[in-house]
Amino acid sequence: MQSAWYPIALAEGLERGTSVGTRLFGRELVVWRDAAGSSHVWEDRCPHRGMRLSFGFVRDNHIACLYHGWQYDASARCRYIPAHPDLAVPNSIRVATYASLERLGFVWAYGELDRADPEPLQFAERTVTPVRSLYVEATTAKVLDALASTIDRAVDNAASGTQCSRTASLVSLAISGDEILIAVQPLSEQETALHIVIAGPADVHRGASQKRISAWSEALRRKLETSTSQIRPGATS
Ligand code: FES
Repeated sequence: MQSAWYPIALAEGLERGTSVGTRLFGRELVVWRDAAGSSHVWEDRCPHRGMRLSFGFVRDNHIACLYHGWQYDASARCRYIPAHPDLAVPNSIRVATYASLERLGFVWAYGELDRADPEPLQFAERTVTPVRSLYVEATTAKVLDALASTIDRAVDNAASGTQCSRTASLVSLAISGDEILIAVQPLSEQETALHIVIAGPADVHRGASQKRISAWSEALRRKLETSTSQIRPGATS
């Protein structure tokens, strides 16, 4: 995994008080949103005996492990052990974390554990309308190749450009008059997630545009999972 920002979820899909497991280059991550609305991205592994924290419960500003109920606050430190309720839990008991932020309607994580000062994410904030996330059984390189065949404009983690590079994590396409942003998440060597939004406000793009782009993305998934044939803008089958 490179030291770079990667999209890992559609922000709107992560409700307050919920957690979800995901992967990045095969690593297991838990993404959760606390009661105040802040999102967190951690290694999906309880320091006690390794249970996935994504199976746990979010309460207020902490997440509790399903197995023995150890509770971790928003700083990832364990603050309460039910079997030892009077114990002052040592600060050394903590979950490994990924730096994270939300921008353009996506949750992003920096691909390096416990990195305190990651480089800034290059992309500027814009108003967007969420569409959906899509999971594809295809390599990220194959996905980017297919998107490149429809490319109007692509940007990567380093700079804006006119080419869709194999390291790009965000691709911008024009489809039937809408500008869509596709955040590309490498799940594993053979699986890729696409998180899709429309650039612009929801009161303009909600409804027909969302349906049209959702259908387009389904066609993209089918073609990616069968061949590398070109995906024409606006094609829905
Ligand atoms: S494995 Fe998580 S509390 Fe025991």
